[in-house]
Amino acid sequence: MKARIHTIDLAYDDHGMGTPIIFLHAFPLNRTMWRGQIMALLNEQRYRLVALDFRGFGESDTGVGVTTMEQLADDVIGLMDNLGMQQAILCGLSMGGYVSFAAQRKYPQRINGLILADTKPEADNGEVQANREKVALQAETVGTSVIADAQIPRLITEQTRKQHPEVEMLLRRMIEATSAAGLAAASRGMGQRLDSNDVLVSIDCPTLVIVGEQDGITPPTIAQSYAAKIAGAQCVVIPQAGHLSNLEQPELFLEAVRSFLRSAF
Ligand code: MLT
Repeated sequence: MKARIHTIDLAYDDHGMGTPIIFLHAFPLNRTMWRGQIMALLNEQRYRLVALDFRGFGESDTGVGVTTMEQLADDVIGLMDNLGMQQAILCGLSMGGYVSFAAQRKYPQRINGLILADTKPEADNGEVQANREKVALQAETVGTSVIADAQIPRLITEQTRKQHPEVEMLLRRMIEATSAAGLAAASRGMGQRLDSNDVLVSIDCPTLVIVGEQDGITPPTIAQSYAAKIAGAQCVVIPQAGHLSNLEQPELFLEAVRSFLRSAF
């Protein structure tokens, strides 16, 4: 389905009825990365499960200029308005987590739960920002296959690549299908994001932090330390998973989410 939000068409799925949960994808992927979790939670008949493609990804239009995390948060809230949702639980992985922090900063009253997976509140340092620009230029000049080659080893473990080649294939398909302009705009936007450490103390809704044991981008030490700054947050480390813990260990990820949702909602 598509909704016209802030002058662009955003693609999304909307399944089930009950407590709303909005799934926010990682960079440079799209909403299909959440398919397994959504189908499993749908069976419980307790939740309204929405996943969107951020602008510039999947089947959504690409906007104009840099895609900031604040713009993506505005789009999420715009979609909630369009769907008649006053509040929702946000479940964001990595860039989806950066967007969740931006939404928590600007629209705290619209969020009644957070699942923050493989993400971090810190802004990029100068070196990482320079690399964001390099990735953006590479996408614009060479295309997204090169980005897939470079990103995949960062996103999943060597073990996942060997034992689950279907996960690598899925990632490659998602990355190669992303528009170069959309990918570049979000890469630059991530480089400009604010530090969200000040937001952590303002979070007063039930929060679950999840991290892959071998996540090299947002390692467990980072997850445990920022979770400790959020009142009442739980932190679950998923064994034998890298950065994309929901795709690498879908059962364990789901178990963590299920038990959090059952206890908090
Ligand atoms: C992601 O998975 O969304 C990205 O790896 C985030 C990042 O590069 O900081």
